[in-house]
Parts: sequence; C-alpha cells; structure tokens
Amino acid sequence: MASKDAHVHILSSLAAALALFIAFTAAATDGADGGEALGASYIFGDSLVDAGNNNFLPTLSKANIKPNGIDFKASGGKPTGRYTNGRTIGDIIGEELGQKHYAVPFLDPNSTGQAILYGVNYASGGGGIMNATGRIFVNRLSMDIQIDYFNITRKQIDKLLGASKAKEHVMKRSIFSITIGSNDFLNNYLLPVLSIGARVTQTPDSFVDDLLNHLKSQLTRLYQLDARKFILGNVGPIGCIPYQRTINQLNEDECVALPNQLANQYNAKLKDLVAQLNDNLPGATFVHANVYDLVMELITNYAKYGFKTASKACCGNGGQYAGIIPCGPTSTLCTDRDKHVFWDPYHPSEAANILIAKQLIQGDPKYVSPMNLKELRDLGL
Ligand SMILES: *[C@@H]1O[C@H](CO)[C@@H](O)[C@H](O)[C@H]1NC(C)=O
Ligand SMILES: *[C@@H]1O[C@H](CO)[C@@H](O)[C@H](O)[C@H]1NC(C)=O
Ligand SMILES: *[C@@H]1O[C@H](CO)[C@@H](O)[C@H](O)[C@H]1NC(C)=O
Repeated sequence: MASKDAHVHILSSLAAALALFIAFTAAATDGADGGEALGASYIFGDSLVDAGNNNFLPTLSKANIKPNGIDFKASGGKPTGRYTNGRTIGDIIGEELGQKHYAVPFLDPNSTGQAILYGVNYASGGGGIMNATGRIFVNRLSMDIQIDYFNITRKQIDKLLGASKAKEHVMKRSIFSITIGSNDFLNNYLLPVLSIGARVTQTPDSFVDDLLNHLKSQLTRLYQLDARKFILGNVGPIGCIPYQRTINQLNEDECVALPNQLANQYNAKLKDLVAQLNDNLPGATFVHANVYDLVMELITNYAKYGFKTASKACCGNGGQYAGIIPCGPTSTLCTDRDKHVFWDPYHPSEAANILIAKQLIQGDPKYVSPMNLKELRDLGL
C-alpha cells in the first residue's frame, strides 16, 4: 500500500512538472497564449524581486555572490544580484506573459535606450514602504525613491516613443508589480533596537495604518505617472522563514506567531485598500495577490508539490534550519535545490517562485483577484 501511494505521488509530480513544462514552452514560442504579449513590467519591491539594483549600492544587503543565481540560465549560473538560485517571481511573470526580455535593473548603467521599453526593475534588497526600513543595511532603495526613479524612466519613455505612444505603452501594455512590506516588519518594527522610537510609541495597529497610508500615496503617485494595471502582493508568512524558525528554535512544523500576526493584520487592511483604489482611481485596475495563503499552502503541503522540506534553507548556515548566516561562498549548499521551498534563510527557491508565479498568472481567485495576470495583461487591448 505504501509503495503504491509513493508511486501515485511520483506520477502526479511528474504530471505536474510536465504540465508546467508544456505551459512554459508554449509561452516561449508564442510570446503569449492567445492574448497579445505584454509590453513591459515595471517592478517595485524588495529582495524578493530585486534583479541587481543593490549591486550598484554601497550596502550590506547584496546577492551578487556565489552560489546565488546558480540556476539562472541567462547568466550561465553566475550571480546577478537576485536573492535566489534562479528566476524571481517578477522574471517568471514577465517571461510567461510574453515580455521580450527581463526587466532591467534601474541602477545598472546599461539600462538605457530601447531596453527600458521591455521593463525596468526598481526593487532593492532591504527596501520597504517606510524610508527608515532597512537602515540596518546602511543603504537600499525604499518605495518613495523607487517611484522617484520611475518618474525618470517615465520621461525617458516619452523621449523614446513620443508623448502619445508613451502614454498608451504605460497605460495599456505595461504591468506595475509591487512586492513590498516584509522588511517594514522584519527590518523595522520587529527590530527592537533600531526601531525603538517607533515601537515604544506605536501599537501594531497604528504602525500598520501608517504603512497603508504611505503605500496609498505611493500608488497614487504611480497612477499620476499613468500606471493603470497593478498587481499588489500582500506580505507572506514571515514567521515561517528559516531565519525565524532557527532563531526561535522551533519544531519543523511550527512558525513564529508575532510576525505572522502582524502580516495578517497588514494584509487584512491591504485588501480594503485595493478595493478602495479600484473604486477611487478611474481607469485603474489593482489586482490583489494573496501571497500569504499561497506560500502558506506550499509550506503546509510541501510534499504535495514535490518538495522535501519547507523549513530548511538550501543555502545558508547556522542552527537546525541553516537559517542564521545568509547564503554565500562558504555556505552549506543542498544538492536538490528544486526540493526546497526556501533557497536561503529568507527567500523562496526558483521552484517555489515558479509555483507562485503560475498561480498569479492563471490561478485560483482565492489567490489572485478580481482577475488573474493574463486577464490583466489583456484588459483593454
Ligand atoms: C554593460 O554592457 C557592456 C557591453 O555589453 C558589458 O561589457 C558590461 O559588463 C555591462 N556592464 C554592466 C554593469 O552590466
Ligand atoms: C522619504 O525619502 C524621500 C526621498 O529622500 C523623500 O522625498 C520623502 O519625503 C521621504 N518620506 C518621508 C515620509 O519622510
Ligand atoms: C515627477 O517629476 C517632476 C519633476 O521632473 C515633478 O514635478 C512631478 O511632481 C513628479 N511626479 C511624481 C508623481 O512624483
């Protein structure tokens, strides 16, 4: 009986892998499955989607060291500044929706000319909604600055295409993705020493309200710069990352309560904000990505998705879950990278990113609403 179950499990994993492969091959040849290819993605956020901006900053948060990027085909396995072994969720979504190449890092001096018409990435490891977030890393791009930079790109698009075509490109053919908020908890509110000013004077409720007020004005600025198609991710289960499990010496199936509770508190209000923006900003569509539930599903039922562990980092050192020392040349490195939900103490593996991206592109309304990304891409075309 046990061996039959194992057999069925292997078969269903194979079938899932095959289905993924077919979907990806189709997208790669068609550009886009039925719909028109996405023109560009403009990507804002933190290390979950940074594609190399921090390489150009004097900062303690860097990922352009081996073995990061070991599975990233476009660089031949060399580190690029992505905080994972392969592609980020932002890369995969762009590729799947038919974008010509990956969004280029804003701070890369080579990110000029036509390249910016296929997307620009402003995300930065350590960045948050608040300016003070990530101070521990000395330097990072926070959301206000990322939007200042898009304002520069916006003028460059005008120059390249002329004002009226540029407006059409930005409004109809571009998706604006925002993956931010984790660091506002992990590297701000939950760091007692650095944020003591904020934490002693602020309840979680008032901190969360502050975050959402800032985010609202940041998104409104993007709207003023003609962004219309948005995807907004909520904060994942940050109490379940290997770092948190290690420092709190948890059992394999446990997560730390406070970080998850704060994430849930923020996420509930984020959902209201998305609804409010959809009502109040004419012509704009904000898609809500329920990253929390999606990642929690991968963590809870990891075996169902072909993973061997959801608690241990593939690359890292320290404690039971290799969760203390960030991934670098001297880290322990697992051999079965696609069997780990987590690449390092903080970030998902490419295998997990593929599953998350796939859900956002064509998935279940409980994870992506009021429409999926394929529908968002095709909206108004
Ligand atoms: C920019 O492009 C040139 C020529 O392709 C290349 O040699 C150089 O390494 C690139 N610089 C960066 C920072 O990627
Ligand atoms: C954050 O920093 C940016 C850029 O330096 C600045 O424009 C903005 O006003 C700051 N925001 C707050 C709330 O201090
Ligand atoms: C964009 O930059 C211009 C100055 O070049 C400024 O007047 C405008 O307020 C900025 N827009 C936003 C939304 O930040």
